[in-house]
Amino acid sequence: MNYPMWEVPGIGTAWIIGLISCLHVFVSHFAVGGGIFFAVTEGLAFKNNDKDLYGYLKKHSQFFLLLTTVFGVVSGVSIWWTISLVNPNATHSLIQVYTLGWAEEYLFFLAELTTIFVYYYTWERLAKDKHLKLARLYAVFSVLTLVIINGIITYMLTPGHWLVSKKWLEGFFNETYWPSLLIRITAMIAIAGMYALVTAAAIKDNEAFRTRMLRYAAKWFIPMFILGPVLAFWYYQNLPASVVANLWTGVQASGVGNFSILARVTYLSLILSGTILVFAFVGPYLNPKGFSFKMALCYLCCGIVVTGMAEYTREMLRKPFAIYNYMYSNGIRKDAIAGLNEHGFLKTAPWAGLAALPKPGESVTALASHPDSTTWRAGRAMFQSQCMACHTTDGYRSMKRLLGQRDSEAIKGLLTMLHETNPEKNPYVHIMPPVAGTQEELDALAEYLASLNHPEVSSPQISQR
Ligand code: HEC
Repeated sequence: MNYPMWEVPGIGTAWIIGLISCLHVFVSHFAVGGGIFFAVTEGLAFKNNDKDLYGYLKKHSQFFLLLTTVFGVVSGVSIWWTISLVNPNATHSLIQVYTLGWAEEYLFFLAELTTIFVYYYTWERLAKDKHLKLARLYAVFSVLTLVIINGIITYMLTPGHWLVSKKWLEGFFNETYWPSLLIRITAMIAIAGMYALVTAAAIKDNEAFRTRMLRYAAKWFIPMFILGPVLAFWYYQNLPASVVANLWTGVQASGVGNFSILARVTYLSLILSGTILVFAFVGPYLNPKGFSFKMALCYLCCGIVVTGMAEYTREMLRKPFAIYNYMYSNGIRKDAIAGLNEHGFLKTAPWAGLAALPKPGESVTALASHPDSTTWRAGRAMFQSQCMACHTTDGYRSMKRLLGQRDSEAIKGLLTMLHETNPEKNPYVHIMPPVAGTQEELDALAEYLASLNHPEVSSPQISQR
C-alpha cells in the first residue's frame, strides 16, 4: 500500500464509484448505440430521400451531441478521479499494464468527439452522401472505443492467461472478451432504441410519422431479444468456477446470506430486461397511439436501472478482488500476502504506517484500545487500508453492526480466521481478502475494532496527556 486512504463516511467509497459509473455506463453505451442509430437511420433517410426522417435526425443530433460530449466526458473523467482515489493500487496497475490500450482509447475518443462536432455543424452544409459518411465514421470510432475498454474491463474479472504470462494482449483478449463485447453492443443498440422511443413519442403534428418512428424504434430491441439470452449464457460459461459458485450460493440461499443480494439483483435485472423487451413489442410496436411520452420516459428509467444492476452484478462477482486472482479490492496483491504476514504490513505501507505513528510530542497511553495509543492508531490504519474498501465504521456494511457484541478477544479469534488463506480454515476467502500482517498488527486491529462498540473501555481519564 503506497497511497493515502480516502475515507467517505456513511456510504463508503465503493458506492461513489457505483453511482457515477452507473450513469456513465448508461450514457457511454448510449453514445455508441446512438452512433449506430444515427448511421443506420441516416442511411435510410438518404436512400428514400425522406425529409421527415432527416428533420428528426437533425433535431435530435443536438441533444445527442450535448449528452454524449458534455455528460459523457464529465462523468468519464469523474470515474478516473474516483477510481484513483478509491483504489489507487488497482488504477496504477491498470494504467501500467494497459498503457498502450489507454493511449489508443484516447485516440479513438478524440476522433469520436471531433467527428460528432463536425457531423452536427455540417447539417445542410455538406452534400448528403458526405454527411452520411460522417455518421458512419462516428459509429466506427465509437464502437472502437468499446473494443478497447471492453478488453480492460473484462480483464479485471477474467485476466486469464495474463496471470501467468503477464503479456497484456493475453489479458486483453481474455475468456469473457467476446461475449461481453457482443452483449454490450446489443445492449447499446437497445439503449439507442429506448432513447429513440422517447424522441419518437415526443413527435407532434404528424401522427403517421410518429407511429412509423415508434415502430422503427421498437425494432432496435430485436437483437437484444434474440441474442441477449444466448450471449449471457456464453458469458456465464466463461466465468471462473469460484465466481459461479458465489452466485449459486446466493441463488440457493435466497432470502438469507450475503450472496442472496447478488442473486436477487441478478434475478431482478433479468426479469426487468425481459419485461422491457416484451413491453417494447406490446407497447410502442403494437399500440403506438397509446404509447405516451411519459411511458417512454419510464422506459428509459427502467433501462438505467437495469444497466446499473447488470454493472453491480459484474462488480460484485469479482469480489474480493479488484483484478481477479491478482489484486484484492483493498489494493493488496495476492502474492504479497505471505511477505506482509512475515515482515509486517504497516512497515511496508508508508502511508498507513505514517498514520499509525504518534503525533510529535505526544505521549503514548498504556491502554491499548484508547484512541491516543499507538496500538489503536495502528489498528485504525490497518482497518483503513485493509477493510474500508468494503466496510465503513457505522454506515454501509457497518463494522459496528457486523461485529455486534464481540469483545476484543472474540474479535481476535475472528481475525485469526480471516488471516488464513486456506479456504477450509477461512470460509470468508471468497468474500473478503485475508487480513495481512504480523500477530501484533492483527491484535492492534482487534483493539481498534473492539473500541468501536465499546468506547467506554477507553475512558478519557486514563489518558496521560
Ligand atoms: C472485498 C470486500 C471486503 C473487504 C476488503 C473486507 N470485507 Fe468484511 N465483509 C465483506 C462482505 C461482503 C461481508 C458480508 C456482509 C454482510 O453479510 O452484510 C463481510 C462481512 C464481515 C464481517 C461479518 C462476518 C460475520 O459473519 O459475522 C466482519 C466481522 C468483517 N467483514 C470484517 C472485516 C475486516 C476486519 C476486514 C479488514 C481486515 C474486512 N472485513 C475486509 C467484504 C469485505
